[in-house]
Amino acid sequence: MVLESTSTLNDTVPKVDGRAVIGNTWEFKKDRLELFQRTFETCGDLGVYSLAGEDVFLANSVELVHEILIKHGSLFEKTDRFRAFARPLLGDGLLTATNEDHKRNRRLIQPRFRTAVIRNSADSAAQVAGTVAERWEDGSVIDVRREMVRLVLGMVGRNLFSKDILGEADDLGNALTDAIHGFDSQASALVPLTIGWPTPANLRYRSAIRRLERTFYTFLAERRAMAEKPDDWLNLLMECTDDNGVPFDDKEIRDEALNMFMPGHETTATGLAWSFHLLSKYPKVYDRLLAESDEVLGGRLPTLEDLDRLPYALQVFKEAMRLYPPVYMFSRQATADVDILGHRIPAGASVIFSPYVLHRREDYFPDPQRFDPDRFAPEAEKQMRRHSYIPFGAGHRVCIGNHHALLGGHVALATIAGQVRLHSLPGPSPVKEPMVTLRPKGELRMRVTRRNQGTTATATPPPRTAEADAAPACPYGHQVETT
Ligand code: HEM
Repeated sequence: MVLESTSTLNDTVPKVDGRAVIGNTWEFKKDRLELFQRTFETCGDLGVYSLAGEDVFLANSVELVHEILIKHGSLFEKTDRFRAFARPLLGDGLLTATNEDHKRNRRLIQPRFRTAVIRNSADSAAQVAGTVAERWEDGSVIDVRREMVRLVLGMVGRNLFSKDILGEADDLGNALTDAIHGFDSQASALVPLTIGWPTPANLRYRSAIRRLERTFYTFLAERRAMAEKPDDWLNLLMECTDDNGVPFDDKEIRDEALNMFMPGHETTATGLAWSFHLLSKYPKVYDRLLAESDEVLGGRLPTLEDLDRLPYALQVFKEAMRLYPPVYMFSRQATADVDILGHRIPAGASVIFSPYVLHRREDYFPDPQRFDPDRFAPEAEKQMRRHSYIPFGAGHRVCIGNHHALLGGHVALATIAGQVRLHSLPGPSPVKEPMVTLRPKGELRMRVTRRNQGTTATATPPPRTAEADAAPACPYGHQVETT
């Protein structure tokens, strides 16, 4: 219910203790996951912490996910802070758009995006994962996080632009990588930074955005001139028209393309990096994943049709994202006073959701610290509390790329399992680094053992039926919430 005047109803929301003046600001900077966990443990489902002089709500229950993101979703916008640092790079695309603009663009993009290019995505994901893993030599030590970033960059580059950006010398790949670094430091800054200030970091960020735009617009012009346009996400955006037949202009295409690239790449890569870390710590789970890949693929690359017979690989990816959700927090800002389950969220207040803390609630996930992909076995997944698992968010702004992300993770795990086994090195476990995504801090070094399953280059998949080729079904349509 929307209220007309502010009141003190929110005084009923418990507040976690903090220091005088600075509140929980230092704690947030030092270890925000710990702050979120402590807020939940001391305050319950809805608690408040204090950041840079502002009271921030932490909402941490399935009921609050439903109330705020779904039932009252239209009363909560992306926060001013998020929009301020994200807009220079992402413009007014889906991630940053106000609810009103978002509604129009999502309606135009979503129907075609979810299924149209799923066949291409499966094929390119398998090829890219196979190519990346083939380079890893037996006995060598690789930085798994870096390799996963390269791998997913390759997948997204093909999906979005039909372009091979695996090569680090590529202009587009370089400009994108620099822009991501700038975005990351803006997002992680404690107090909002103004991108106009001439700090060295800002100058680098602005220069990366300019290079990125130059490269992107040149590329778009080339694409417009092509007689035969590839069937990729860029083409899909170029073909979007509104009810009056008006297509997106170049700036809108730029914004939406970057909105697909940016969240699409770092997130899936960190999800995969943590998957390999967890697998190496749970050898029986790893054995089962390898056995599944061997039995179904025998060393060849997976196809879209194989995925139903590789359920465990998907379960591993989902369970890794439960324990280490790449988007470990996201936020909303109330546009009016809103009453939620007996509490008032005042207009202008920020509300944080942390999938990291939600996914570790014992009442939702028994023995929550244990890595157990069987939680996502089909029957068990049906029993899961609705909205207790939200790696892709929920409601009208749920991740539009969720099917593609599951596909990328699923295919990458099954493909790599056929080629190598990765082992953790002796020493302490990786430290979590909550930046834009929840990544392992520094390098995630693992040793490679190559497996004798034949090579991806020689083995061929079974032939496809013409029917399946014409209308490939998205294998994840029934599994993730769409709105
Ligand atoms: C494991 C991989 C991924 C994770 C964990 C993830 C997570 C998320 C989350 C949590 C949101 C909602 C944020 C919020 O409500 O504030 C979101 C939104 C979004 N994601 Fe993803 N994402 C992933 C992959 C992708 C991919 C592959 C794409 C490529 C298209 C993508 C594109 C987007 C876009 C455009 C939005 C904004 C949607 C909207 O507001 O309508 N994401 N993502």
